[in-house]
Amino acid sequence: MNSIDLLLNRQSNPLLTQPAPSSDDLHNILSAGMRVPDHGGILPWHFTVIEGTGLDKLSEYFVNAVKINTDDEAKIEKTRKMPFRAPMIIVISTKYREHKVPNQEQLVAAGCCAHAMQMMAFSLGYGAMWRTGDLSYNNSVKYALDINFNDDIVGFLYIGTEKKHLPTKPVKPYEAHVTYLK
Ligand SMILES: Cc1cc2nc3c(=O)[nH]c(=O)nc-3n(C[C@H](O)[C@H](O)[C@H](O)COP(=O)(O)O)c2cc1C
Repeated sequence: MNSIDLLLNRQSNPLLTQPAPSSDDLHNILSAGMRVPDHGGILPWHFTVIEGTGLDKLSEYFVNAVKINTDDEAKIEKTRKMPFRAPMIIVISTKYREHKVPNQEQLVAAGCCAHAMQMMAFSLGYGAMWRTGDLSYNNSVKYALDINFNDDIVGFLYIGTEKKHLPTKPVKPYEAHVTYLK
């Protein structure tokens, strides 16, 4: 896939299975995450790569977090299954630095990491889906993943092999979202 096709036709795929990215492919995915625009060169992000038994651990962390607020078995069961929607998850979190660059910009840079890694995954022929949800904002999950309460989980990037290739979604016209100053 060339870069123009990638940028014009990128789309998520929630239907993912084994195999996960190989170690060479993971290297390229993580390297793409490091290559983003970064005001001040302060690297205000952290990536947690989860696969194999790590997915079981994440499932346990999710379940422990929801059990704090509910004993609804259906919700707990649904939560337990969530990490198994792909063979690999990369958690992208901020690592806010004390710096003149405001946290808002550091958060945007970490968001760019997630996007860049997703684009590299697509380039390498994998499917991927960027997810957040309540558990991204949950201190129990952050604690279990060794993420500071003051930092933000920008996303759980689910990556794997597409179970089926989805039809390309229609183009979204940009005209209503653009003005010109000439
Ligand atoms: C920060 C962020 C968080 C997201 N969280 C979720 C999520 O929790 N669940 C979900 O179904 N989609 C979520 N999405 C949207 C999907 O990743 C995806 O972009 C959306 O389904 C549209 O599909 P497309 O990427 O093919 O255009 C999130 C996107 C972003 C940027």
